[in-house]
Amino acid sequence: MTAANRVSFPNLFFFRQFLGRPVAIGSVIPTSDVTIRALLDPVDWRGVTCVVEYGPGTGVFAREILRRLGPDGRLIAIDTNEHFIRYLRTSIRDDRLDCVHGSAADIESILATRNLAQADHVLSGLPFSTLPHAAAHAIMDATYRAVRPGGNFLIYQYSRFVLPLLAARFAHIEQGRVWRCFPPMRLFWAAKPAEMLVSSASCDASLAAE
Ligand SMILES: C[S@@+](CC[C@H](N)C(=O)[O-])C[C@H]1O[C@@H](n2cnc3c(N)ncnc32)[C@H](O)[C@@H]1O
Repeated sequence: MTAANRVSFPNLFFFRQFLGRPVAIGSVIPTSDVTIRALLDPVDWRGVTCVVEYGPGTGVFAREILRRLGPDGRLIAIDTNEHFIRYLRTSIRDDRLDCVHGSAADIESILATRNLAQADHVLSGLPFSTLPHAAAHAIMDATYRAVRPGGNFLIYQYSRFVLPLLAARFAHIEQGRVWRCFPPMRLFWAAKPAEMLVSSASCDASLAAE
């Protein structure tokens, strides 16, 4: 039996993981329900087939994403903490959930091994402000490439540290604030523009002009 199996209280388990790896976890308790709803509610979940979550921890976001995903959707949850990954595998029984012990920086190869080119949306709970500078930039670059055109990178953080990293890559960023939790949470929705499609009418016009 693993340490994760023996702990019956997810919040206590989370806190113990924090004590062991405070820099990588960056929070003493899992994210609150009010923050989860505030980040996920603005997303149109219709037709979403692939979501990637960085740093699922005990799965508070994962459970709510699975509730919103359709039967053909899939959620790939990536965490560097093997205890969290084992905990998720045993506590959430859902074929749509794919738990990966690895780093967010490897999102492209993780998608590729599943024959996926890109994700509809990527959601991150990573503590960007405490990650090494180079690692934070590498994760941002890889995420930008891994989000499909028209998709979003969703982030919740205690600070605005992540904003310039997003603004250097994503053309459109919406921000929000959740005051009903302590400390108040900042939310970011960074959109990757949909590709410009040349309409058949303009194709015909340019062909006719040749
Ligand atoms: C603030 S906790 C968020 C936990 C959970 N999503 C929640 O909302 O309660 C940050 C998580 O990021 C994970 N993490 C840190 N660095 C990571 C990386 N490079 N790739 C994937 N996960 C990472 C930690 O192990 C931890 O589970």
